[in-house]
Amino acid sequence: MTLAIIVHGGAKTVPGEKVEANHAGCLAAVEAGWTVLRAGGSAGEAVEAAIRVLESDQTFNAGFGSTLNSEGGVEVDAAMMEGEKLSWGAVAAVQGVLHPISAARKLMDDKPRLLVAQSAERFAADHGIEMCAKEDLISEEQQQEWEEEKEVVDRPNTVGCVALDAKGILVAGTSTGGTTGQPQGRVGDTALVGCGLYADNHLGACSTTGDGESIIPVVLAKTAIDFLKGDTHPDDAARMAINSLVERVEGEAGCIVLDPQGRVGWAYNSSDMVVGYMTAEMDQPVTFIKKEEEQKKEEQLQSV
Ligand code: GLY
Repeated sequence: MTLAIIVHGGAKTVPGEKVEANHAGCLAAVEAGWTVLRAGGSAGEAVEAAIRVLESDQTFNAGFGSTLNSEGGVEVDAAMMEGEKLSWGAVAAVQGVLHPISAARKLMDDKPRLLVAQSAERFAADHGIEMCAKEDLISEEQQQEWEEEKEVVDRPNTVGCVALDAKGILVAGTSTGGTTGQPQGRVGDTALVGCGLYADNHLGACSTTGDGESIIPVVLAKTAIDFLKGDTHPDDAARMAINSLVERVEGEAGCIVLDPQGRVGWAYNSSDMVVGYMTAEMDQPVTFIKKEEEQKKEEQLQSV
């Protein structure tokens, strides 16, 4: 069985001064997940490890550094799904949980599997997930932007990861701080199976990013997975899924896709999308902010 992992740091505009931090954050996340896979860990453990890195990095809109809502607070959503038993877990509108992806993973063994607000917070605390003060998830930069009511340059930039382990199990995970200035209690696509993520060992797994209100009606993650039928390459499936969103609704989105053969794909209709991946066939992980960078790298490799 082959191993593979792909992460995203969101479909968005990456300003020049944040390019390096986006590359570095995604690279660190891929490395964290890859270390788990190489040591024989499960895809669930790898996805959790990778997303925890992104949730800890204020460059990304998830966990610490999440965008602030209309009340100046951080409310986050996260979910995980695995492709063998189609098991899943999710939390939404949660405050004071340092790593919401860990709470989502814990819920995969439980029922109910989607908990919101105080219920989710109680569940996390009772199950040993690291808790923190609500304010501890607010970065200085986000606080300043909120106070100054700065124009939002970055689009919603959820993070996500998909991994394939040595047992052939595919897992997808997604985590977000939601949209800038969102009303308290708003929940987007991230916590919703089929929309923010999907995993099916027979076809592939997907994590999405972008405008939740656009992603939900086209069930973006499941749409991408359905496009994999008939051995379509994940890159083509990802592109077809984004095209189908563009055809039906307005909004920006992106997705990462991994199939049971360990082939990766990604697509977006925002100006940028930060992505990193590593597979058993590669010598080292790569990160990209634009699809053209990946194409250029492939051309360079072919000309050697
Ligand atoms: N994609 C994140 C959200 O809309 O909440």
